[in-house]
Amino acid sequence: MRLDKFICESTELTRSLAKRVLKSGEVTCDGVVIKDASFKVGTDTEVCIEGRKIEVIGERYIMMNKPVDTICSTIDEEYQSVLSLMDIEKVETLHIAGCLDVDTTGLVLITSDGLWSHKITSPKKDCGKRYYVEVAEPLDEALIETFAEGVQLRNEDGLTKPAILDIIDATHARLTISEGKYHQVKRMFAAVGNKVINLHREAIGKIEMEDDLLEGEWRYLTDEEVKSV
Ligand code: URA
Repeated sequence: MRLDKFICESTELTRSLAKRVLKSGEVTCDGVVIKDASFKVGTDTEVCIEGRKIEVIGERYIMMNKPVDTICSTIDEEYQSVLSLMDIEKVETLHIAGCLDVDTTGLVLITSDGLWSHKITSPKKDCGKRYYVEVAEPLDEALIETFAEGVQLRNEDGLTKPAILDIIDATHARLTISEGKYHQVKRMFAAVGNKVINLHREAIGKIEMEDDLLEGEWRYLTDEEVKSV
């Protein structure tokens, strides 16, 4: 990789600023000052700016416990974006794999890897999303079969894909769906005459929300979690 590109991918510097830093003689490769932007950086080359080692930021995979009153847009709008809760370099390279509504809490996956997030969001990939749901009206056991068979949502063609409903008590349940239609969980309960009062995402595929992560906190996924998708 060219040295100016390496600097851009390791820091917040633009290509023109990287060239300026190079010209000033602040950049060393394996201890030798290099001013040539086209210098080829090898995989083992130690690149430093003002004596501080820099490294290319690779693909990033993150989980966050989304608080209420935040949105999964990449920019702040009426509500704050979950990305602006993160103090992290190159936030503009990150996006959210599977959005939650402003009033929904829980597991949000954030990444720079578009192919990886496609495996989460594409209905064809059958990646289950499990929600803890509180509803207004008592839940009937018959709903387990209704959701397993699929329900008709307003303004949608065809039934929802089979979903797994696990009733906990009269007004609490866990629902696992493998699609991500707009407001899907709320609309599924609305389709059967009920109303969602609280919604929290607990899991995406095999990735479970970390119990210790407080609302608004985040951590990098483990290699095992990344590979599980
Ligand atoms: N379904 C919803 O209705 N809302 C969410 O935030 C996620 C799934």
